[in-house]
Amino acid sequence: MKRTAFVFLILNFAFSNLFSQSVAHRRAETMKLGMNFSYLDNYWNGTKEKQFSDFLKSEEALKRESKFADIAKAGFKTVRVPICFSAWMELKQPYNWRDTKGLEIADSWVKAALASNLNVIVDLHHSEFDGSIPEAIKPERIVSLWLRIAERYKHTDPEKVFFELRNEPHDISAEAWRREASEIIKVVRKIAPKHTLIVGFHEWNGRKQMIESQPFEDSNIIYTFHYYDPFVFTHQGASWVGFGVQDLRNIPFPANGKENKTPDGSKGSWVEGNINAYAEDSKAEKMFADLKAAKDWSIKNKVPIFLGEFGSFGQFSTIEDRCRHAETVYSALGKLGIPNAWWEWDQGFTMFKPGTTSISECMQKAIDSYYTKK
Ligand code: BGC
Repeated sequence: MKRTAFVFLILNFAFSNLFSQSVAHRRAETMKLGMNFSYLDNYWNGTKEKQFSDFLKSEEALKRESKFADIAKAGFKTVRVPICFSAWMELKQPYNWRDTKGLEIADSWVKAALASNLNVIVDLHHSEFDGSIPEAIKPERIVSLWLRIAERYKHTDPEKVFFELRNEPHDISAEAWRREASEIIKVVRKIAPKHTLIVGFHEWNGRKQMIESQPFEDSNIIYTFHYYDPFVFTHQGASWVGFGVQDLRNIPFPANGKENKTPDGSKGSWVEGNINAYAEDSKAEKMFADLKAAKDWSIKNKVPIFLGEFGSFGQFSTIEDRCRHAETVYSALGKLGIPNAWWEWDQGFTMFKPGTTSISECMQKAIDSYYTKK
């Protein structure tokens, strides 16, 4: 009798594990192609005196609501909404909300996305701002942010609304991030037991860092990583990356032997290393292998994955080069069956034909390659 009870317990454990794991897998299957919709993360348009909360202009934010319908109409199934909740919460205990205007807009965006039948990822973005407010990033504060965010969104449909714990944790060790994430998971689980969590790893949602990590105990998690390789192509001219990268221009995709020499200011830096490796790094086979390594990790660990950001900055590269890059990534993602979200809809990384608000033809071809797997 005792033995039967033991076997029953083991079986029960195995099945419940299998079942809850399949919830995350099943939901990941519905994500397919996604799009990041930026604005509620644009803290840099605010001032430090106001804890950056003045970045948000209500009228503009409300006008943007209609764009969820456009994203759905363009065929995307998931929208990732990066939100700087940190701007609206006090810096000290008991960490009350200090400004509810932004929260109300976030609520209404989630509703608008759902009304367009999109999956929505509520993504805690830029809680650290520019690093100039040290209290902002205390682990207990990030956990409190989640306590309040989960309370706010616990009544949303767990089949459609996902919670992403923290965008691109950086300047934090693997161990410290794991401790923080485990705490967040514990807190959110008590409040929202059925919602699927999206969890990335240290070093800016690093792909390699994910592959070197173990999944968490909670089985209702989709793991995420970002892929901006080759970085000297995708971020050429990006002022926010600074040193070296902001001076890069005219890097083609893939390498054709004519790519720029390393700018004088970045000789000897990692940028020079990346430029020297560019001929190799921009090969489709290399990029496929990178993404396959992520997929292999997900298969080995029996957990679903989601590529939460990829794309290219448009100011200094041609749409043709960007389309070739996009197609290389999209077709690899299609072959590997990795759901994903392009960074982003209508700001500096947009897919729009220059000067218009429609997706350029070659970008559409790149998107389609996800399904045709060519
Ligand atoms: C950041 C954006 C940035 C993008 C590409 C995102 O995670 O939040 O501000 O434009 O990465 O670098």
